[in-house]
Amino acid sequence: MTRRAGIILAGGSGSRMSPITDKVNKHLLPVYDKPVISYPLEVMRVLDVDQAVIVCNERDQASYADASDWLGFWDLQISTAVQPKPDGLASAVYTARSAFGGESFDQYIVSVGDGVYVTGLDQVIGIERRAKPEQALAWVVIKEHSHPQDFGVVAIDAKDNVTAIVEKPNSPPSSFVCTGLYIFDVSLFSRIDKLTYSARGELEMSDLLESYLGQNQLRAIALPDDVLWFDVGTPDRLLDASIARRESLMSNK
Ligand code: TTP
Repeated sequence: MTRRAGIILAGGSGSRMSPITDKVNKHLLPVYDKPVISYPLEVMRVLDVDQAVIVCNERDQASYADASDWLGFWDLQISTAVQPKPDGLASAVYTARSAFGGESFDQYIVSVGDGVYVTGLDQVIGIERRAKPEQALAWVVIKEHSHPQDFGVVAIDAKDNVTAIVEKPNSPPSSFVCTGLYIFDVSLFSRIDKLTYSARGELEMSDLLESYLGQNQLRAIALPDDVLWFDVGTPDRLLDASIARRESLMSNK
């Protein structure tokens, strides 16, 4: 049986949402009726992880200590790991290792904490089984977007092999963007160990992906158009996600 761990990256500084985030972490802000962190937790629930780790800043650890009870995830084993400083997404992934107590898993499902699937979670179900280890060691979940230049843009070939990932390009090579959801094999930690800090002082997710891409071990899983996904890293997008969530609840009444 495949054993899976989930890692939610909920640290960071949230500078684009200052001054709110000077006092309250982005992942505790509401998307209409639920805090942001509920949405990636929901993803971990549908992907059937054996254990989920929320990587956070020290200031927020107490908020997540009772996340299962607080947000109703009784079926999910949730623990926390503190990232001492916001020095990048790959560094945050590495931090999660301390919460596994030496245990290793077949697959590591990594989600940014501020990626919100407002609808279409039913399309996310089963992607972990589509990420077959004999086809690739790492997988990135992508979606078409009308403004790809605001995101990490992914170019793929006819077999869904990733051929390039470009961060916020002026001329996007495709309209597919990273949704901040990834599936990695157990080699991810040793790969992060070998990364060096970027010019902006971070261990970058793009460098981790590049290490798989360079060995032709990175494939994409594309979600259909009707999936409503938001990166809620700015006030505008947080508001858009809240409105979309409200509309989705109203239409289901
Ligand atoms: P970002 O939105 O790229 O960074 P940020 O949250 O610090 O915000 P800003 O750019 O406005 O300063 O982060 C993407 C996700 O990754 C988000 O959910 C926070 C998380 N993250 C970490 O867990 N640790 C980190 O060191 C960083 C930089 C981000």
